[in-house]
Amino acid sequence: MWVADMDFASPAPIAEALRRRIGHEIFGYGKDPVELRQAVVERLARLYGWQIEPAHIVFLPGLVCGLNVVARAVGAPGSGVLVNPPVYPPFLSASTNQQRVVQAAPLATCTQHDAQGRPYLHYELDFDAMDAGITPETRLFMLCNPHNPVGRAYTPQELSQIGEFCLRHNLVISSDEIHCDLLLGETKHSPIAALAPELADRTITLMAPSKTYNIPGLGCSMAIVPNAQLRAQINQAAAGIVPHVNILGPVAAHAAYTECEDWLEELCDYLTGNRDLVFGFVQRYLPQVPLTRPEATYLAWLDLRGLGLDNPQQYVLKEAKVALGDGAAFGEGGEGFVRLNFGMPRALLQQGLNQIAAALDQVLA
Ligand SMILES: Cc1ncc(COP(=O)(O)O)c(C=O)c1O
Repeated sequence: MWVADMDFASPAPIAEALRRRIGHEIFGYGKDPVELRQAVVERLARLYGWQIEPAHIVFLPGLVCGLNVVARAVGAPGSGVLVNPPVYPPFLSASTNQQRVVQAAPLATCTQHDAQGRPYLHYELDFDAMDAGITPETRLFMLCNPHNPVGRAYTPQELSQIGEFCLRHNLVISSDEIHCDLLLGETKHSPIAALAPELADRTITLMAPSKTYNIPGLGCSMAIVPNAQLRAQINQAAAGIVPHVNILGPVAAHAAYTECEDWLEELCDYLTGNRDLVFGFVQRYLPQVPLTRPEATYLAWLDLRGLGLDNPQQYVLKEAKVALGDGAAFGEGGEGFVRLNFGMPRALLQQGLNQIAAALDQVLA
């Protein structure tokens, strides 16, 4: 229940498209995936009313790679990169890998209540912390939307506020939207670049079908960069060290984006049910454990600090035989938390939750 992929088979049209391609039996170098570019352009226009050109898309073999390429492309060694921990660990390592300086503006947290009055952990951007976090050397803001691990899908109002902040401080925005299709309940996704042309002009949007259709191992991701100068910087940062996307990735991505709409709708309904199962279970059987009620992603974020354990993730691994993500890796505000992946068949999820509860009961007793 730790690594962020799902225990579900990918949709049948993807497997079928891959089988057709494999049937060709020649696996030489590929060509530019022109049809995939067009499918992405049409999808962004249909879902978000966001008009891009096919040439704005830079294909990448993964988005950890994307985060590193962006960190390398913007600013210079020593320049600052603003991030909002707790956040997906490569947001922190990308900067240090590329001799940039991580500037942390931790998310603010508070308790909110759902429709039934049950409390949950809610995270928001803290603009005072953002102001305090930057320096004259800051060049880049790395946004994670939807946010891994806290499951927030930022509203257009919040994104506008981020946009104003980045315009005021002349920051390039890197918006990692890899989880943008995994929407729970009534949640809608807004790409920050789609809000206004002046934001599109300073934003590198990172997207991929990998999480949504469970094809991360096929390595086909993209940076969408309408600004030609920024795009040249991205291509320069990647030149000679980032390989082309492998020949099967675009085949899977094209099928995902053009033939799998019903499957995605069903997936999101199922994940919403799993989110509610995790939330209801923890509220009922582990009321001492605050947790998020994610709006997107298949990730829940649990606060185990109150249990008095030295290392909650290791305790759950040893006693419950369940591997969760260790919150400490997610930077400031992550210590004592664990991340739980609920992207799996419900019976397996229930089994994992039962094992976790039995193990935690021993320390709560
Ligand atoms: C926010 C975010 N960005 C990037 C990635 C990794 O992407 P990739 O597998 O394409 O390197 C993940 C995977 O969990 C993620 O959650």
